[in-house]
Amino acid sequence: MSKYDSFTGGTSTPVTSREDDSLVATFRRMLLEEVDLHELSKVDDNQRRARLERVIAHLVSREGVILSASERNQLVRRVVDEAVGLGVLEPILNDPTISEIMINGHDQIYVERDGQLESWPAPFSGVEQLMQTIDRIVSTVNRRVDESSPMVDARLPADSRLPRGARVNVVLPPLSLNGPTVTIRLFPQALSLNQLIEKDALDRRTALLLKACVEARLNVVVSGGTGSGKTTLLNALSSFISPSERIITVEDAAELSLDQPHTIRLETRPANVEGRGQITIRDLVRNSLRMRPDRIIVGECRGGEALDMLQAMNTGHEGSLTTVHANSPDDALSRLETLASMSDVDVPFHALRDQVNSAIDVIVQLNRLSGGVRRVVDVSWVASRRQEDFSLVPLMEYAVDRSDPTRLRGHFVTHDLPARFRDRLLEGGVDVAAIEGDG
Ligand SMILES: Nc1ncnc2c1ncn2[C@@H]1O[C@H](COP(=O)(O)OP(=O)(O)O)[C@@H](O)[C@H]1O
Ligand SMILES: [Mg+2]
Repeated sequence: MSKYDSFTGGTSTPVTSREDDSLVATFRRMLLEEVDLHELSKVDDNQRRARLERVIAHLVSREGVILSASERNQLVRRVVDEAVGLGVLEPILNDPTISEIMINGHDQIYVERDGQLESWPAPFSGVEQLMQTIDRIVSTVNRRVDESSPMVDARLPADSRLPRGARVNVVLPPLSLNGPTVTIRLFPQALSLNQLIEKDALDRRTALLLKACVEARLNVVVSGGTGSGKTTLLNALSSFISPSERIITVEDAAELSLDQPHTIRLETRPANVEGRGQITIRDLVRNSLRMRPDRIIVGECRGGEALDMLQAMNTGHEGSLTTVHANSPDDALSRLETLASMSDVDVPFHALRDQVNSAIDVIVQLNRLSGGVRRVVDVSWVASRRQEDFSLVPLMEYAVDRSDPTRLRGHFVTHDLPARFRDRLLEGGVDVAAIEGDG
């Protein structure tokens, strides 16, 4: 097996050696001597790449380096990546299973795949190479990072280099003692509800039920663990909101991509170097209420903003959507109650229960299973009212096939709709018979 073979698969684990690095560096230097990159900045990315690849292939032949065809292609690609792309980061950016990149100085990279951290075997060759990559990243958004502004937090739009878009945070020495430190959160690819059905994340009937909930303006909470697909499902559900509505999304890192024309996206801001200027989810949720929203979508409730969200849902902003980190629908309700109690407004506990019961209509529970499968395992209606103890009625449950040792196979079981829930859908103008009739 050639040492480059592991590069060619979709999800690659690169193998590099010192000789490769020095070859890449040599040809990169030669390339920069031969072509004026500035000149090439007028053509689009693909054309620029194609031209540079031709030049390097020519240089490699001219220098008489003996390489197999795949080694040669690999070398050409790495030189171009380093000359115009994001170098060492390119293979990571092209791996759809990676959601976060953590660079701790030039010689250590970690990536997050399916919620697990793993060390990436091919870090930068030196600080200079890392700084060059950082400059290239932040300059796309006209930002600068150097000794005078050693901390940068920027949102990168999706483009040919970053097909999914990302939020990047850079901290340089002397603030960081590890050397230049970069954290890149890659936004998940948007999946439509049909694509989720194809991936067996839910069935058609459950999809129709969720569509009905959104159309009838029920308040829906998507619950699940890290990486269980909450944001992805929230995004897919939001497609059922009418394009005539004014939607405000509030997120820590704006990952949602709604198609509706009348959408306002708000994103938090961390504190600056002096520790000032922080804008939290909570600030944004409160402010969004003054912006005449028809619907508010909060990317994730994880603090005191839960109280503002619940109050908004209870005061004329029905049809709002959010996600919460919890392991079951029951857990999601008590978690919202606890989060709301973290707010600086001192609300008695029974009043918080009242808020949750009145605000939340439906909980959609997601689960991440082995092999990268994400699935809707429960859809429950909050039947309890006012200060009653929480009571949930399952509308759909995923029943695991007991004979399957992997616990992956099973089927979606839809229950009859409770009368009071059915009435809510009817009031919301939903054709309930169509959902019930669809088997
Ligand atoms: N049903 C699904 N099947 C396969 N992959 C999925 C599914 N839903 C989401 N993903 C992927 O899983 C990763 C985590 O999804 P995300 O929605 O960000 O999760 P969460 O918001 O719960 O942390 C993303 O890479 C996303 O593209
Ligand atoms: Mg998320």
